[in-house]
Amino acid sequence: MSDSEEEGPPQLSSYALAALQEFYAEQQQHHPDLRGDDKYNIGIIEENWQLSQFWYSPETALRLAEDAVAAAGEGGRIACVSAPSVYQKLRERHRDAVSVCIFEYDRRFAAYGEDFVYYDYKNPVDLPERIATHSFDIVVADPPYLSEECLRKMSETIKLLTRGKILLCTGAVMEEAAAKLLGVKMCKFIPEHTRTLGNEFRCFVNYDSGLDRDLSVQLPVQEGPK
Ligand SMILES: C[S@@+](CC[C@H](N)C(=O)[O-])C[C@H]1O[C@@H](n2cnc3c(N)ncnc32)[C@H](O)[C@@H]1O
Repeated sequence: MSDSEEEGPPQLSSYALAALQEFYAEQQQHHPDLRGDDKYNIGIIEENWQLSQFWYSPETALRLAEDAVAAAGEGGRIACVSAPSVYQKLRERHRDAVSVCIFEYDRRFAAYGEDFVYYDYKNPVDLPERIATHSFDIVVADPPYLSEECLRKMSETIKLLTRGKILLCTGAVMEEAAAKLLGVKMCKFIPEHTRTLGNEFRCFVNYDSGLDRDLSVQLPVQEGPK
């Protein structure tokens, strides 16, 4: 037996092993493996608060997705702009039966292949050639920041993409700016997130939407005096 065989296979130091594990965890975070049945689960891509990522609750994402499908009509085309969990719900529920694109700044969502369109609101009209203008029946959008500048820039993109219908989710404080920039009105439906946020969020639409017909949360029945 040679000396090297006696020593066995080379061992990594605990320091090197920890560094390698950290590297693999990092890789998984940046290039998530989205091949399983759970690939469209909300939260499969973790929130990164530095990118202002706050995911909708599954119930809210479903409600928004179904409203978008109803508004787009059969065979309609839907754009999800900075609203990845609506995209995930659409694909989870309708698989290949809907035509949907996810416009996102976070490149981890590129794992969704051709549906992914890299998008930075700071360059609102900088879109790939394969995306024809006014080719989406409805645009669902949720700007990352509660500022007029962010909404103004994203509005340019929304108007460029839509054939007319718009579903915007943002802070209630943006109501006036949203009406001015996009002609949208606040709905009764109250969107909810997976965690409690400090700001009141609302949905705004410019079409006859189910989101304006009933409330998301059933208020408890008030009991009269006994
Ligand atoms: C407030 S979150 C909206 C997510 C939505 N609640 C959902 O569950 O799908 C804002 C989104 O904007 C994206 N974002 C961050 N920076 C951006 C940028 N510069 N341009 C466009 N989108 C950006 C984030 O990745 C995030 O998906």
